[in-house]
Amino acid sequence: MSQTILVTGGAGYIGSHCCLELLEAGHRVVVLDNLSNSSREALVRVEELSGKSLVFEQVDLRDAAETSRVVCSHAFDAVIHFAGLKAVGESAEIPLQYYDNNVSGTLNLLAAMRKHGVRHLVFSSSCTVYGNPASLPIRENFPLSGASPYGRSKLMVEQILRDVARSEPGWHLMLLRYFNPIGAHPSGRIGEDPSGTPDNLAPYVMQVAVGRREHVRVFGNDYKTRDGTGVRDFIHVVDLVLGHIAALDALERTEGCVAYNLGTGTGYSVLEVIEAARRATGREIPAKIVARRPGDIPECYADPAMALETLGWRATRGLDEMMVDAWRWQKANPNGFHE
Ligand code: NAD
Ligand code: WQD
Repeated sequence: MSQTILVTGGAGYIGSHCCLELLEAGHRVVVLDNLSNSSREALVRVEELSGKSLVFEQVDLRDAAETSRVVCSHAFDAVIHFAGLKAVGESAEIPLQYYDNNVSGTLNLLAAMRKHGVRHLVFSSSCTVYGNPASLPIRENFPLSGASPYGRSKLMVEQILRDVARSEPGWHLMLLRYFNPIGAHPSGRIGEDPSGTPDNLAPYVMQVAVGRREHVRVFGNDYKTRDGTGVRDFIHVVDLVLGHIAALDALERTEGCVAYNLGTGTGYSVLEVIEAARRATGREIPAKIVARRPGDIPECYADPAMALETLGWRATRGLDEMMVDAWRWQKANPNGFHE
């Protein structure tokens, strides 16, 4: 059924891919984004690719009055809430900004939703809420812990959403815990466009492949993993956003607040990712082993069974496809959305 969806953070990496799938599924889309980590051009390309238009509101969630205005501007069936700051290292340097954007921003959004009778929400949580898991694969009922201000901001929002759902009937809230989203839309027109030096492995590897950086720094090869390097559950961004389309369909029958892992269930090591990137790009991609990055865990991958059982969703795209799609985007847009 066609719905009207408010997408906060819709101009960002995951949000822009989600807007495209929403439009292609026949939904109407309003994007609320302050463009603090994204570009208007991403949404222009989403409109081009889908052949449909969306409404864009350049608004900061920390502005309660403006947020409320947007929430009451349409009869929204649901909100998908991507907006927030996401760099783990940076969050330790500027924690107040992280709590302000991620926690206060969400409080403003929820207050506006409550005021205007919008009770369906999908929230971008993260596998970081599991800290360093005692065993693998990670199930949704594992203990939660926050290892950084960013991770704690996600935990706080999860807690707030559980409290809201408990406080009165009628809320339909989903916490989607993403593992490691990478890749890009197969058109090569939208993709990840990190500002400055990328923190994350995949965009760094792609910038080495395209010649913007000299070599990949592999953060440690002495972990107790199959080749000594870190292992993560990399998931194609298109698979990830299709999980949101499935979540929207299941939201009405979801009472209260429920968490789902969005991962593939398979872990790949840092060296395996670099090898896959070499295959996809045909480039050498030099790599050097350096010290471990403080705060990193050895290994992390999801048990995605709950999402399959309840949402009928599973990831289908493998690592090679993630790398081929990431490369198509990187090669055609070496400087991201900035020509
Ligand atoms: P992104 O930075 O590309 O997108 C976030 C968007 O939110 C940006 O367009 C930014 O301009 C906007 N934004 C930030 N603060 C805002 C505010 N106060 N008001 C309005 N807009 C604001 O990040 P992404 O990778 O697309 O991540 C989307 C969500 O998924 C985030 O909540 C992130 O924490 C979460 N997440 C991301 C990953 C990942 O590896 N990319 C993993 C797990 C969870
Ligand atoms: C992956 C692996 C690194 C960069 C982060 C957040 C998490 C979630 C996903 C938001 C690790 C290694 C990395 C590099 C490297 N985001 N690496 N050289 O740390 O698993 O997760 O993004 O919610 O919360 O913490 O992702 O891509 O940074 O690292 O060797 O230049 O690659 O040590 O083993 P991470 P990542």
